[in-house]
Amino acid sequence: MTASTPPAVAAELRRLLAHSHAPYSGVHVSAAIECADGQVHYGVNVENAAYPQGVCAEASAISSAVTGGQKGIRRVWVASSLPGFIWPCGGCRQKIWEFSEPGCEVVSVADDGATESHAIEALLPLGFRLER
Ligand code: THU
Repeated sequence: MTASTPPAVAAELRRLLAHSHAPYSGVHVSAAIECADGQVHYGVNVENAAYPQGVCAEASAISSAVTGGQKGIRRVWVASSLPGFIWPCGGCRQKIWEFSEPGCEVVSVADDGATESHAIEALLPLGFRLER
């Protein structure tokens, strides 16, 4: 599936790659989260010398959204310094699932601007969620 990405979001994802703190992997990642109110929250990966303490870009963006009072995710965009498409790790798929609205999609934005998208249910089949 393909999905269009607003030019402003694509440009901001590219710009924010420079803010990513990834001295250990060298992989810079940025993420944007569109919430139910239409606002877009951004995040980058923040690695740490104690490797497991690193935080993925999607988790950073979710923290920003929740801090802003939003708990409903309509769309996630992710971009990276790698060529081609990247997709959220398993842990981030679960984090996105926790807040996803019905129809929530994850859009990968490649370095050349190409996009591909999948529903969160396709990326995390039978995900665990307590009734809300
Ligand atoms: N990373 C993300 O931030 N998001 C993803 O979807 C996949 C991986 C980060 C974690 C680590 O800082 C670096 O990319 C290499 O794994």
